Parts: sequence; structure tokens; C-alpha cells
Amino acid sequence: MSRRPVIAGNWKMYKTQADTRQFFAAFKPLVAHSRHCDIIIAPPFTALSVAVEAAAGTPIAIAAQNAHWAREGAFTGEISMPMLVEAGCRGVIIGHSERRQYFGETDESVNRKLGAALHAGLTPIICVGELAAERDANLTHAVLKRQFEGGLHALTDADFSRILLAYEPIWAIGTGRTATPEIAAAVHRFLRELAAKQFSPECASALRILYGGSVKPDNIKGLMAQEEIDGALVGGASLDAKSFAAIVNF
Ligand code: PGA
Repeated sequence: MSRRPVIAGNWKMYKTQADTRQFFAAFKPLVAHSRHCDIIIAPPFTALSVAVEAAAGTPIAIAAQNAHWAREGAFTGEISMPMLVEAGCRGVIIGHSERRQYFGETDESVNRKLGAALHAGLTPIICVGELAAERDANLTHAVLKRQFEGGLHALTDADFSRILLAYEPIWAIGTGRTATPEIAAAVHRFLRELAAKQFSPECASALRILYGGSVKPDNIKGLMAQEEIDGALVGGASLDAKSFAAIVNF
């Protein structure tokens, strides 16, 4: 089964509109011939429209980093999925570990947001991953199973075939401590097995699983050489046009 690679950048709470314009001016020429993978960039909300405009006419898709599950309502400070669509987004990151850790995201809220994203026609990028203490206590599989089943329950095969899954071990995010390609691939295999239990074998084998956590230009090649690793979700190294382009062009 050959799956098309996906390289996604998560800018977190970095970059103004001016920074975003600058990034795209430098980045676009560097990936002008990069047709071998899907490219996604997730800027902060305030830079979304600038990013959408800058990426127009290129294959670069713009995604948001979070959204609420309701269409609209009295939810001060929140943004809805249809609002993202209107802003020109094609995808949305859901359940990033920083949202789980600092903003009370749960498997239940991930599930509700996932339904709303699919309903709005967005590509959801669902993040799962274990803490260092959980890995050390041999709980990696149990944690991922809970996150996968809790986040993805009540999904049809057709819905499932539209999602991207990102494995982001929390101990590797922003720490410079990347999972080795072998560790990541083993977890991806486990996630695909979980997918095969809940969805059709075709869906499970077509699922694209991204690795995230200290992905850099110098380790992307080794990661992508693993058959089980279908792409990367890149934080820090996606902020610089040259380094993100080097990752895209692995
Ligand atoms: P990092 O972040 O590449 O800076 O480790 C990855 C992520 O949080 O998506």
C-alpha cells in the first residue's frame, strides 16, 4: 500500500501577519516543484487569512490549530469549524498534546471536534501521544488505545478515511529528543492495528500516520525511510522557511 506523504507545520503561537507574509515569500519558491507530498501549514488564527491568500494557487493547504465543535453560540473566545472554512482553511489540528495539557482537551472533546470538522468538510489532524512517565511505566499502548478509541468512536469508514492521525510522543515535543525511527514506526504499526479493529482493513491500510516531535531537516530522511511513517507534524522547525522546505523536500 503506498500512501502519499504529508508534511505539516504547526506554528503554535508564533508569527504575526507580517511574519506570515515573509515566510511564504521565502517558502513558496523552495517548494515550487515539490509534488511528492501534501504540504499543510497551521498558523495562528489571526494569520489564517494572510496565509490562505499567500498560498493561493499553490498546493499548500492551510489548517487551523484548534476549533470549537459548535457551529456558533455564546462561547466567548472560541472559533467554529464553519468559520475556519470561510477563512479558507482546509484542515484543523485536533487534540494536540499542548491543548490536552494546558487547555483541558479530553478524548471526549476531541471526538466532538472531530465530528464537527468532518461535518464542515475540513481534514482533521488528530493527535495522540504518551507522556514520558507513561512510556517509562510501559503504558504507551494503553494510553494510545484510550486516546484512539475515545477520540475516534462513532465514526464511519467513510469519515475515518478523511482523517490524518499524528503520533506525537509528548516526551519528544520541543525537547530535541526525537523518537528513533524504529520507536515511532513500532507505535505507528500499533495504531494501524487499532484502526483495523474498528474500521475496514482497506481504511486501516490507507490511513496516513504522521510522526511529530523534534522533527528536523537532519532526521526527517531516517523517519520517512520507515514504511509505517507517512509524514511529519513539525513544530519548531516549521517556523523557518528554509528548514521547513528542507523537511518537505526530504
Ligand atoms: P516540535 O513540535 O517539532 O517543536 O517538537 C511538534 C508539535 O508539537 O507538533
